[in-house]
Amino acid sequence: MGDNASKSREWKETVILDVGSGCVKAGLSSDRDPKIVTATVVGYPKASEATETSIVVGYEAIEKSDQLRLIWPVRRGIIIDFEAWSAIIRYVLNKLDVDPGNHPIFITEPILNPTQQRIRIAEYLFETLNVPGIYFGLHPLLALFSVGKVTGLVVESGEGLTQIIAVQESYPLHHSAIRIPIGGIDITRYLMKLIMRKGIHISSEYEIEHIRRIKEKACYLETDYESKLRLARGGMLEGEKFELPNGRTIVLHEEKFVAPEIIYRPSLIGLKTKPLDEAITEAIFSVDIDVRPAMYPNIIISGGNTKIRGFIERLQNELLENIPERAKDKLNIGALKDREYCVYRGATILTNLPAFRKILITKEKWAEEGPSSVLGAI
Ligand SMILES: Nc1ncnc2c1ncn2[C@@H]1O[C@H](COP(=O)(O)OP(=O)(O)OP(=O)(O)O)[C@@H](O)[C@H]1O
Ligand SMILES: [Mg+2]
Repeated sequence: MGDNASKSREWKETVILDVGSGCVKAGLSSDRDPKIVTATVVGYPKASEATETSIVVGYEAIEKSDQLRLIWPVRRGIIIDFEAWSAIIRYVLNKLDVDPGNHPIFITEPILNPTQQRIRIAEYLFETLNVPGIYFGLHPLLALFSVGKVTGLVVESGEGLTQIIAVQESYPLHHSAIRIPIGGIDITRYLMKLIMRKGIHISSEYEIEHIRRIKEKACYLETDYESKLRLARGGMLEGEKFELPNGRTIVLHEEKFVAPEIIYRPSLIGLKTKPLDEAITEAIFSVDIDVRPAMYPNIIISGGNTKIRGFIERLQNELLENIPERAKDKLNIGALKDREYCVYRGATILTNLPAFRKILITKEKWAEEGPSSVLGAI
């Protein structure tokens, strides 16, 4: 048997798995953009016993949701159903046409995740799939790398959660980490609730998916929320028509900017969590006073939920109200256009560094050290 270094030479490309609460982004380290993008959902047949061939993964499962029982295995960044999660992993590996025995696997994870998760993931990957090595990368850190930076304040908001953390010279400053349980799913659900108040009933997974699409098209963050709301309530706002899958039409008015407003007014959905701008300033103030000036010009936003129209302008306005006077002209919010792929892209950057193979947790290390081998970098 050779040593780790000679073994690693036989390994093939690393597989990157960014399995989010709503959407899987996966590919090989040479794929700058993910080869596979689909919904993080598994459909089990209602009428017959589930087998590896009868289960359906991703958007196809949503389309066939009348015949399937759907399980979304990741909720707010946490795996709540390992069986369904592993079905997604097998589906992706199969689609990528890779033998997991030869490819290291890169798993992305949110900040402040329960440590037990890593252990269960490692157990499955090493002991069931027999992968040669694994690595865990933090979402916001990877998002920062994706824009070519190593220092900054990252705001990552996806389907299930919003993560904020300061990073200095590639080191996440863990004491600054804030995890807000609000993501795109909450905006979709709130929009649904507002639509239902108009007397329209929505219940099937297929219809909910449709509302999500309407949200992505119609919703925006308003810079002057109060006065726009007054206008709307006074009947001064023109409505926009949308069609529902059952052929009915709905007309949306203030719902378009009220639904995403939960980011700044979590109390609208009964949550006591901090509004986004307050959480960001709290994270900045939690870091050493010498490091703070490097944060203001390097605020990086990532994740699908930050693609709501008006997100950057509103954040800029809110932050300008909260940050010290001397920092105001330095404030800069950086964002890629297709920022739902930032986390994935950051992982490709890391996996292509020559040192990456050295920092992988190998199967041998797992065999020798067990769970402690995967807990080190948290
Ligand atoms: N143009 C858009 N406008 C508004 N929302 C959008 C837009 N594009 C994507 N989204 C939303 O982004 C969310 C998905 O983002 P993303 O893929 O980053 O999440 P995820 O990785 O699945 O979840 P998480 O990282 O929170 O576990 C969905 O709620 C989706 O509706
Ligand atoms: Mg994500």
